Amino acid sequence: MFKVNDNYLKLPGSYLFSTVARKQREYQTANPDKKIIRLSIGDVTLPLVPAVIDALHSAVDEMGNAETFKGYAPDLGYEFLRKTIADNDYRARGVNIDEDEIFISDGAKSDSANIQEIFSLDNKIAVCDPVYPVYVDSNVMAGRTGTYDKDTERWSDVIYMPCTAETDFAPVFPKEEPDIIYLCFPNNPTGSTVTKDQLQQWVDYALKIGAVIIYDAAYEAYISEDNVPHTIYECNGAKGCAIELRSFSKNAGFTGTRLGFTVVPKELKSNDVSLNALWARRHGTKFNGAPYIIQRAGEAVYSEEGKKQTAQQVAYYMNNAKVIREGLSSAGYTVSGGVNAPYIWLRTPDKMTSWEFFDYLLENANVVGTPGSGFGPSGEGYFRLTAFGSYESTVEAIERIKKM
Ligand SMILES: Cc1ncc(COP(=O)(O)O)c(C=O)c1O
Repeated sequence: MFKVNDNYLKLPGSYLFSTVARKQREYQTANPDKKIIRLSIGDVTLPLVPAVIDALHSAVDEMGNAETFKGYAPDLGYEFLRKTIADNDYRARGVNIDEDEIFISDGAKSDSANIQEIFSLDNKIAVCDPVYPVYVDSNVMAGRTGTYDKDTERWSDVIYMPCTAETDFAPVFPKEEPDIIYLCFPNNPTGSTVTKDQLQQWVDYALKIGAVIIYDAAYEAYISEDNVPHTIYECNGAKGCAIELRSFSKNAGFTGTRLGFTVVPKELKSNDVSLNALWARRHGTKFNGAPYIIQRAGEAVYSEEGKKQTAQQVAYYMNNAKVIREGLSSAGYTVSGGVNAPYIWLRTPDKMTSWEFFDYLLENANVVGTPGSGFGPSGEGYFRLTAFGSYESTVEAIERIKKM
């Protein structure tokens, strides 16, 4: 009789987004005349920019011509895209990343879930709390997290680093030493960031204790402040301890088009074993490449027009973020985020739980957000609103919240 991977059975149900959707649906059915505004979505809403669409069209034409048709892509991704990334995301910032340290993928979700495979099950992971759920769940599936305690909502073998208002939603060094540290800045869900000096301290800490940092920089394009690092490799020594995950989803609207990349520096080693070689082996065996058409579209994001057009989209979302942040502040809410990230993190008023505030907001303002507690126990008492809606609906949502 075959057996399943019981680690999957240990996963607690992920009720967050399904419960949000169900509550919204039930409310709408009971109140068909109400116009609900969703500020809960982590998905972009603006269409792909013209530079990307042009690149897609011409790549599609190439695929229809025997002379220019492309079959399987090279394991690491096409050279034209890896060179463009190395030049624009790294060399332009004074960071030297070689083309063969960049692995093109179909996005940061799969990379953030898969990267743990190249590490031994004995490693202890540390995650921020609240956190993007993929880091922990993928380690649960692998069998690295011990047992789950329903009351504390924590795994016995995971080190949690609470990110609270006291630390400006940044993690502090944990008491217990981790082997793998997941960091995500700008952060989902809190919208917080760390300064270059703070990130340097994490790099120094990882180098001192022999840990590896998995640095998720999916929201890098939203950074607006000068002292916030765009890549962890701006920090001294980071190539010896950090893997960086990047995505085209939030900077260029590729959530449905799918493209990302992971940087694994060649000098990153465990004893004498190169993580770059291990990830290359894994990538070559289990992944057959992002489509040629999409890699050409990704290249177009870095063209002069592509940069201009995608920057305008980021600015549009960040204007929404400003509307939310300033509107809520003026209404007396305690808010953070929304300066270097498309997420606004607000303290629920009158000691309401995250879910109580969800219901209150839905019933009184017909606005849907995401309860902070869904991202981890330290998110209780907080609420996430996103800047990915339209300007008009964002303004209207804030007007309604102000009137509550
Ligand atoms: C922190 C973080 N990492 C990764 C992703 C997923 O990115 P991608 O669309 O490239 O898979 C998300 C998506 O919301 C995210 O919030």
